[in-house]
Amino acid sequence: MTTTSLQELYVEQLQDLYDAEQQIIKALPKMIDAAQAEELRDGLSEHLEVTKQQAARIEKICQDLGEKPQKEKCKGMEGVLKEGGDLVKDVENPEVRDAAIIAAAQRVEHYEMAGYGTARTYATLLGYDDAASALEQTLEEEKEADATLSGLAGKLNVEALDEDTAGTSATHESKRPSSKREMPKSGRGKHAA
Ligand SMILES: [Fe+2]
Repeated sequence: MTTTSLQELYVEQLQDLYDAEQQIIKALPKMIDAAQAEELRDGLSEHLEVTKQQAARIEKICQDLGEKPQKEKCKGMEGVLKEGGDLVKDVENPEVRDAAIIAAAQRVEHYEMAGYGTARTYATLLGYDDAASALEQTLEEEKEADATLSGLAGKLNVEALDEDTAGTSATHESKRPSSKREMPKSGRGKHAA
């Protein structure tokens, strides 16, 4: 199908976002299972519930337009989730794995933020004010989830770094990059992505 109007592009964006949300709903339970820190598990579990509401919001918007939400395959989210899943799978140390989960989850959030910002703008331009507010609400939720993950990263990435340091024997010390050893204490709390 050729897209000939902003209206069609808007519908395609909504369908793409809907599929992205469905993929996230499937992927989040696996990330929760893989996470060790309780606050990370809680944060992801809470976001799973929020994500279900976000998907329902798109269903309603599509319904009002007389369109089906299921149509597009979001190949971008598929790639982001696949890469994140592969990254997490390869990490054995639980603290480092938590850091990898946060890295993967933040990529998901940023990808979604890009999509929702676009869809919200199209809705506004096309005069769908209710849809624009609903999409804006989702966009704010995604930003909030990203900020929560940054907050968790500030703490958990440092634990992963400590794990790194603890696992280093004196004989390996000289092989470590000097920049890591010289990490200023004041900067260690600023590792949030
Ligand atoms: Fe979402």
